[in-house]
Amino acid sequence: MSDSTQAALSNLMHEQRHFDPPEELARHANVSADVYDEADRDPVAFWGKQAERLTWAEPFTDVLDWSNPPFAKWYVGGKLNAAYNCVDRHVEAGNGDRVAFHWVGEPEGDTRDLTYAELKDEVCRAANALVELGVQTGDRVAIYMPMIPETVVAMLACARIGAPHTVVFGGFSSQALVDRIQDCDARVVITADGGYRRGAPASLKPAVDEAVERCPDVRSVLVVRRTGQDVAWTEGRDVWWHDAVGGQSTEHTPEAFDSEHPLYVMYTSGTTGKPKGILHTTGGYLVGTSYTHWAVFDLKPETDVFWTAADIGWVTGHSYIVYGPLANGTTSVMYEGTPDTPHKGRWWEIISQYKVNILYCAPTAIRTFMKWGKEIPEKSDLSSLRLLGSVGEPINPEAWIWYREVIGGGHCPVVDTWWQTETGQLMISPLPGVTSSKPGSAMKALPGISAVVVDDVGKPVSKGEGGYLTLTQPWPAMLRTIWGDDQRYRDTYWSRFEGVYFAGDGAKLDEEGDIWLLGRVDDVMNVSGHRLSTTEIESALVSHPKVAEAAVVGAKDEDTGQAVCAFVILRESAGDGGQDIVEELRAHVAKEIGKIARPRQIMVVPELPKTRSGKIMRRLLKDVAEEREVGDVTTLADSTVMDLISENLKDSGSDED
Ligand code: WT7
Repeated sequence: MSDSTQAALSNLMHEQRHFDPPEELARHANVSADVYDEADRDPVAFWGKQAERLTWAEPFTDVLDWSNPPFAKWYVGGKLNAAYNCVDRHVEAGNGDRVAFHWVGEPEGDTRDLTYAELKDEVCRAANALVELGVQTGDRVAIYMPMIPETVVAMLACARIGAPHTVVFGGFSSQALVDRIQDCDARVVITADGGYRRGAPASLKPAVDEAVERCPDVRSVLVVRRTGQDVAWTEGRDVWWHDAVGGQSTEHTPEAFDSEHPLYVMYTSGTTGKPKGILHTTGGYLVGTSYTHWAVFDLKPETDVFWTAADIGWVTGHSYIVYGPLANGTTSVMYEGTPDTPHKGRWWEIISQYKVNILYCAPTAIRTFMKWGKEIPEKSDLSSLRLLGSVGEPINPEAWIWYREVIGGGHCPVVDTWWQTETGQLMISPLPGVTSSKPGSAMKALPGISAVVVDDVGKPVSKGEGGYLTLTQPWPAMLRTIWGDDQRYRDTYWSRFEGVYFAGDGAKLDEEGDIWLLGRVDDVMNVSGHRLSTTEIESALVSHPKVAEAAVVGAKDEDTGQAVCAFVILRESAGDGGQDIVEELRAHVAKEIGKIARPRQIMVVPELPKTRSGKIMRRLLKDVAEEREVGDVTTLADSTVMDLISENLKDSGSDED
């Protein structure tokens, strides 16, 4: 972090500006202040009690088996069906007419309300269709979809028959899809012809066709017709969703699976080039997501309209559009498109139309809205809002305040929620109605969670000090392993500090002991709340025939938090580069990984700064990318390299991209 950011943060922490929970909310909140003590006294018993939120086909005998760390088993011996818990039981309880999703397509007027009863019928039909396609319990199914109701139906149908899904974000490339399909050996892919994005149909099926050509074990591709665009068709392999699902029976008996039965695999970037398949299982994940959704968003399922404005292709969508909210019988909004289509007030119109009470989104969106100006949200009636959440990256205090004042009318508490794909559930966050909040701080670990900030050697830091964020006790929705790679699971998360979970984030305690997240401490960037690996993008760049070497850093960016900045050395055969090569390389990264990984800036340089042992000093490149004076160069093998780079950049003027 730069000195000036550090200073600004210290000032803020010093000011101790904080907001107490509004009295009205405190009186009616789902949880009360004594919940922290209760959980502290006996965290395992606390999580045992939260499991009563679910309907178990067979009760568990033990809450937690932690006899073989870091491999946890939660709700040992219990049996349940995730889809039954998310759908059927609400219908059985007489709430079949409650809306599960107010779905809003991007084209104006393209909307659909789906009640719990309708959702149940759809999920049963889809489950029957999957069985007919030969999908068996334990088989993996890849889902590559736009934000449409069928995506939720497909996930729940998989869960219902015990086939773990792996949802691949629709913005990822065909190559990324290949990697994921192959890593978890998926045999069936569910996709759509496309979806609507920025006012036009975007395609998905061609990327699947390209991917499946290289995945010979995929035997069926189920295709939802969303946009009506022409698609290539492989007879015998491709099946229309409406043909396969439409005619099925709405009866399907859910089988009860072991609490530890795999529910899904979600891939996320790590510090190496190969994404990690984060495995989540059934019982603990559902307890963790449903409890935190209910407690942190103070959810009243009978009356609230809840909106997580994220894509289902990320963990935020899995936990807080699908599993948590549905397990709680929530009415949610689900929106397909971008915030500026057809105009920049789209979100606020949706909120006023559906009287949304709780909004959950990423700081990058909030900063974008700030830039567009408060006149835009002011045109809509946002008075239904009562609670606001933030997720995905550190929220700068200015954005926090703007969110609270402009969107929340000054009366909605803001919960800044820290968690990860790996944690599955929210971990650090205020509890509205109980905990006071400070702009920019995620405050403290939720009840039943123990987060400790430690120094280099794993010793807890004192108030006012910074260090690394660790989680010292297992929690229900924790990842169980990395798919097919237990050793990498141990090495990545449980080895940096003996016996505790290392999150990869820096954090600081303020004078009151509240937690401030400071961003990643490893080679992982956070762009618009999405995790990207520097190494993965470097690999993509060097896979281009004209690139000899590449180094990637995340540079501070006003809109996206961080932005991808790449430094490349070209092969001699590539000539001197010029602007064409930069565009060519940006497109290449988009093709290899996806548009979100496309560098904001690519600088062609003659050398890269390396230590004597050959390690690239990204810190120095970050200084260049963030237009700062370059820091200490004494450990460079050749200390003149940075001068060479600066000279070269001045000459080429390539930083105006
Ligand atoms: C990383 C996890 C959690 C769902 C979305 C991202 C960063 C997440 C916060 C927050 C500061 C945050 C961390 C974390 N992060 N939430 N409230 N404040 N940083 O999931 O892709 O697994 O990324 O996002 O760096 O490690 P993810």
